[in-house]
Amino acid sequence: MRKKLLAGNWKMNKDIAESIDLISEINKGLNSSVFNKADVIVCPPFISIYPVCEYLKHSEIKVGGQNMYKETEGAYTGEISANMLISAGCRYVILGHSERRQYFGENDTLINQKMEKAITSNLIPILCVGETLSQREENKHIQTVTEQVKSCLKNIEASNEQEKFIIAYEPVWAIGTGVNATPEQAEEMHSEIRGILKELYGEDISEQIRILYGGSINEINSTDLFKMKNIDGGLVGGASIKAESFIKIINSVQ
Ligand code: PGA
Repeated sequence: MRKKLLAGNWKMNKDIAESIDLISEINKGLNSSVFNKADVIVCPPFISIYPVCEYLKHSEIKVGGQNMYKETEGAYTGEISANMLISAGCRYVILGHSERRQYFGENDTLINQKMEKAITSNLIPILCVGETLSQREENKHIQTVTEQVKSCLKNIEASNEQEKFIIAYEPVWAIGTGVNATPEQAEEMHSEIRGILKELYGEDISEQIRILYGGSINEINSTDLFKMKNIDGGLVGGASIKAESFIKIINSVQ
């Protein structure tokens, strides 16, 4: 049985003081029994990671970065390394988010290199994949996501003993639009992705890898999405920076 996982992607929102306000509200609002059903992660902006981790020292909530660079260190102005994220308290990192692909020119080759770096550094990457609206309208959504998954996982190993990575299916047309994929649309893609994982890693391991859905998740649609067989939780953007909504989404896990 895969344990559900809810990750909040704060994107470029919340300064340090606001980050502490938000995380304290989330932390206080969650009943400790919820962690038996679901893992909870928050991904604040870089400068808030350390204070948020310090705040969460005795909490079950884990912290992730929203991005990182593929190199260990050096002259890469404006970038952040895997070790820096770890030193600030991160266990996770989001990689290949569609906003990184769209606005910062990231492609599957770079994302694959980042995946490798994250995993060898002992971070657990949350690899984001997803098609655009026109790709779906042209009925190329499955092909697009299949290519992204295969390219980004090139030479990446998975294991039975330890979680090496998580996948997030995030259709670009659903991100921040208020139009979520239906549970059936999402389940169709998740089951395709699980099939690719089976090809790559075999049945046993593929059944253990968590596949999150992301794109306009809210407290109204989350229950039905999380009921689907291959949907193992969510990557939540907008609704994760409102404590009340994020708490309701987490509590909607059955
Ligand atoms: P959204 O964003 O929930 O605001 O649609 C999801 C994401 O981009 O991870």
